[in-house]
Amino acid sequence: MKLREIFAEAVSKLRENEIMNPERDARALVSFGVGIPADRLTISSEYLAGKEQIQKVNHLLQRRIAGWPVSRILGKRLFWGREFLINDDVLDPRGDTETLIALALQKPGKFVLDLGTGSGAIGLTLASEWPDAQLVASDLSKTALDVARQNAIKLGVIQRCQFVNSDWFHSLEGQFDLIVSNPPYISEGEMALLSREVKNHDPSLALFAGPDGLSAYRTISAQAKNYLVAGGRLLFEIGHRQASAVSQILQEQGYIDIAVHQDLDRKDRVVSCRSPT
Ligand SMILES: C[S@@+](CC[C@H](N)C(=O)[O-])C[C@H]1O[C@@H](n2cnc3c(N)ncnc32)[C@H](O)[C@@H]1O
Repeated sequence: MKLREIFAEAVSKLRENEIMNPERDARALVSFGVGIPADRLTISSEYLAGKEQIQKVNHLLQRRIAGWPVSRILGKRLFWGREFLINDDVLDPRGDTETLIALALQKPGKFVLDLGTGSGAIGLTLASEWPDAQLVASDLSKTALDVARQNAIKLGVIQRCQFVNSDWFHSLEGQFDLIVSNPPYISEGEMALLSREVKNHDPSLALFAGPDGLSAYRTISAQAKNYLVAGGRLLFEIGHRQASAVSQILQEQGYIDIAVHQDLDRKDRVVSCRSPT
């Protein structure tokens, strides 16, 4: 079967099964299944695929139709221009989280702590952008830390990274000039509203944070000031309706220069502040 026929069939199957963006997903899945880069598919449209390649594409399509996100099927996700490995143990990094990266990069950082690192998307991006930075990446999930470690190797920054299995600050020590965190922030009330892809595929440890979704912000804010150098920065990703609640938590803890930043969709996405000391 020729590649163009495989692609056309893939698009129709996805469309029949009401998958949004069937062309985009077909491009990623066919490319992966056949082993031809996505940007070479059109130029290779007359390529004759073998039986095994066709079977592989069909298997990938079945998983997509069964509700698996493309990134989870492929086991990778692009974040801030770099490829991160992902698996069932980590949150699939979101484009919105790049808002936090853009903000962090406005001022150089050297000693960086990424709390709840998951795949390492935030901390490892900063370590990659700042060749002199030292990163401590922590998570309560040991299996998530294994993924972050693999990503650090892949990105060539492992020698500047330390991975710590910790319940927020419990097993951490040191002083940082930047603490970043995208903690769990979904409330009990919001659980029912989550899409099938999030509910069935992102680990619950990465999602839920108590009855009002703010428990991680409270715990981290109460302790972060003891781990920040004078004037050090704390950056939180937030749910888009949490800006005032999170700002208030930070204010009560004495942080200064509290500011809210929006994502590309003009939704509140990051709260930044500085150490009170
Ligand atoms: C929303 S995910 C963010 C993952 C990654 N930083 C990202 O932005 O893609 C939250 C992360 O916090 C971790 N986590 C949840 N509770 C934690 C706790 N008590 N202590 C440390 N990490 C925790 C989860 O395992 C998960 O990796």
